[in-house]
Order: sequence, then C-alpha cells, then structure tokens
Amino acid sequence: MFPWILLLALPDLLAVQAPAPGPAPELPRRPYVQHVTPEGLSLLWETPVKETCQVTLRSLTTSDTWENTSGPAEHHEVRFEGLVPGARYGYTVRTTNWTLGGEVRTAPAGNAPFTFLVYGDTRNGHAVHPVITQVMALEDADFVIHTGDFVSDGVRREVWGLFLRQAWPLMRKLPLYPTVGNHENTWDADALDLYRRIFAVPADGPRPEEIYAFTWGNSRFFFLDSNRPFVGAPQAAWLRAQLREAAADPRIRHVFVSVHQSAYSSGPHGPNLELQAAGVVDDLRRHGVALTFSAHDHLYERGRVDGLNYVITAGGGAPIYFVKKSQPHAILIESVNHYCRVDVAGELVTLSAFRLDGSRLDHLVLERADPAGRNPVHQVLSEQHPADQGSAKTAPPGRFPAGDRGLADDSRRRPPDDDALSGDPGRPSGLAWLGGALVLAGLTVAGLLLWRRRRKRDGRSSREH
Ligand SMILES: [Fe+2]
Ligand SMILES: [Fe+2]
Repeated sequence: MFPWILLLALPDLLAVQAPAPGPAPELPRRPYVQHVTPEGLSLLWETPVKETCQVTLRSLTTSDTWENTSGPAEHHEVRFEGLVPGARYGYTVRTTNWTLGGEVRTAPAGNAPFTFLVYGDTRNGHAVHPVITQVMALEDADFVIHTGDFVSDGVRREVWGLFLRQAWPLMRKLPLYPTVGNHENTWDADALDLYRRIFAVPADGPRPEEIYAFTWGNSRFFFLDSNRPFVGAPQAAWLRAQLREAAADPRIRHVFVSVHQSAYSSGPHGPNLELQAAGVVDDLRRHGVALTFSAHDHLYERGRVDGLNYVITAGGGAPIYFVKKSQPHAILIESVNHYCRVDVAGELVTLSAFRLDGSRLDHLVLERADPAGRNPVHQVLSEQHPADQGSAKTAPPGRFPAGDRGLADDSRRRPPDDDALSGDPGRPSGLAWLGGALVLAGLTVAGLLLWRRRRKRDGRSSREH
C-alpha cells in the first residue's frame, strides 16, 4: 500500500532537492573570431546546453548594424558578409546567461600593409600559454597563425576548452588560422570533427580546414598537414598548382607556408625528410616563397637553405627542447618561449621574434625581387646573427623530451602521450608520491583505530562473560 503520509513531506523533499541558485555555468567556448575577409567575418561560440542566442554586429565608423540569431544549438557559428574592407566592427553575443563581445577589423583590400603573429606548440603549457596570449594581444595585428600542437590530445574536448579560454584575449579580436599538428590527433574521426567545429577556415584544399589557403592583402598563405603523406599525395599536387597560380598573379607579392613539421630542424625531432623527398621544398624555393613556419621541435630556429627561409616557432608553452644538432643552415637558434610578428608592406617582409620579457630574439628583413625571366625571389636586406644577442645556438645538447619520443615517426599510427609529457612517464611524479604517502598514512590510522576498537570490545565482552 502506498504510504500516503509521505505526500505531506513532498514539499520539503522537493525543496531539499532543488539546486541552490549559483553562478551561471561558464560557456564551453566564449565568442571568438574566424575567417575574416575584406567583406566578411565569422563568430563562433558554444553554450553548455542548446540555446537560442542573439548576435549584434555594428560598424565602429558608420551607423550600420546587423542583427542575427543562432540556435537552438550548443555549437554556434554566424557569418556576416557585405562589410567594408579594413574597417572596425564591434560585436555582442547574448546567450541565456552571458553577454560577451569584442572588436574586430576586416581584412584590407589590395596592397595595404598588414601584420600577423605566429606561435605554436602550446599543448599542455598551461602556465606559459596565458602569458603569451596576453603579451601577443598587445600587438596591433590583423590575424594569428598557430603552427600546431594546440593541445596535448585533440580527442579530448575539455583540453580544447582550456586552450580556447587561454587564447581568448587573442581570439576574441583576431582570427586564428590553424596548422594541424600531430597532437591534434585528427586521424581520429571524433577529433577531426571537433577540430573542424572549433575552427572555421577556408575549405578549398584537398582536406577541408586542414589543408587550405587564403589571401590577405598582397600575400597568399598555405597550410599543410605533415601528419599525412606528401610523396605522390594530393596535397603536394594541390600545393604545386597553387604556388604556380600565385606566382603568375601580379597581385600576390609574397607567399607564406605553414606546416607543423619543418623540412629543416636542429631540434631532437630533426627534419621532415618527406617534405624534401616529395619535392615540396623544391617547389617552395622555385616559386619564391618568402617564409615557411613550423613547430614540433619546441624552440626557435631560423635558417636558410639555397635561398628558402624557414622558421620554427614552437615556444608557445610546451616543454622547451634543447638543440640536438645545430645544422649548418641554421642561422639563429634559441630554446626559449617566444612568439613572432611579421609586418608586410609592399615588397617588404619584416620578421621579428620576441621572448616573453619583451626582448627581441630575432629580426629579418626580406625584399621581393623579380629577376628578368625568372620566378620571384626574396633577398635579405638585413638580419640578426647569434653574435648580436648571445643566442643560445650553443645550448646544452640533446636531451630528447620524455613523452614525445618517437612522435615524428609514429604520429600517423598511434595517439601521442598526453598531459604527462613533461615528466618521465616511467617514474611517479612528486604529487603521486605525496598522494601515495597520504593514502598509506590514512590506512595506518584506520587500522590502528580498528585495532583499538576491537581490543576495547574484546575487553568488554570478556568482562561481561
Ligand atoms: Fe610539439
Ligand atoms: Fe608536434
């Protein structure tokens, strides 16, 4: 029989079970900017549950305002078109619990000067990465390139959430163009889906949003996937055709390429020989590419091989690597956290790299030249040398970073080790030791108490009998 008396207690039971009012849950992804063109931009964000959100975009130079709605959904992506090139806009996103906004500038039209920032290998550098993004956000730049290894394991949604929170000072105002690294684990269908959901970049290459290109001002940018084959592969053929097209276009004065694993490196992972074997490096050189950007070896390195300038910028927070073998083509190497800034103005390209204390790590000025009857080249007007600032080209040699061992070869076949990468995976960490000691102490105390209680009970029972 149903105990009807319980109905009298129902209001009290419900009152106890109702959730206490508290702060609104944080957005898994706060609003950020993607795929900015002279006349368009995208805003993306994620809500904890399916919601309908309101978006307002307003010109900061005219009275133009656009209203849009997104949802009901958790993942939100809204695109605005019909904007003015090189103009500033403010946006506001209203979810159920949050109102967040920012400012963004559209891409310039034609040959106007612009600036972009480059950094990479942020991975599990949760202490360094927020500092770098705060410093980079002070730069007056147009967009950011990330050279890959954003997170420790791209399959895990929560580490992407952490990356985006740390990069938010940058990404709320600058579009970030991703280079896929081995730690993104996009061989996994769920990780690839997540990657493509987080980034909204052109889908014009052989693998949408992983291998792609875009034009900014007078420059063309190419993004490759070094986790996938190059020899005889679609991305090598696509790149060759694209480079030929860019070289024939008089509006394109500079070409930049980003690929996670560099064709040249003095770090422990060493060079990506497949890029050389596939003829990709020859193609880049032949078509007068101004600079290539990479990561994977966690240091800064700039070098030149037969006129092709390469930069490894992988100081975004992942454990810093030492130089394994300084290659003869390396001009400047330093094992340090850093980021790069590139200023493009007409025929000039100026690369600067900065440490986190604001000191300048490197400087290079290139100028495009068009020799008669030949493809364009980028000649060096000035550059920094190790002697100029006591560079760490002579840094201690060769400790291969624990946890990342073998990724250069294995990354296509198995997931990399995750957040334990900075420690020796075979040895317990300090925290593990402390935890173990506490558990042992707890067990000992519990044992003693049980033993005392049993002795008392035995004593009582012997007295009673
Ligand atoms: Fe890495
Ligand atoms: Fe990597």
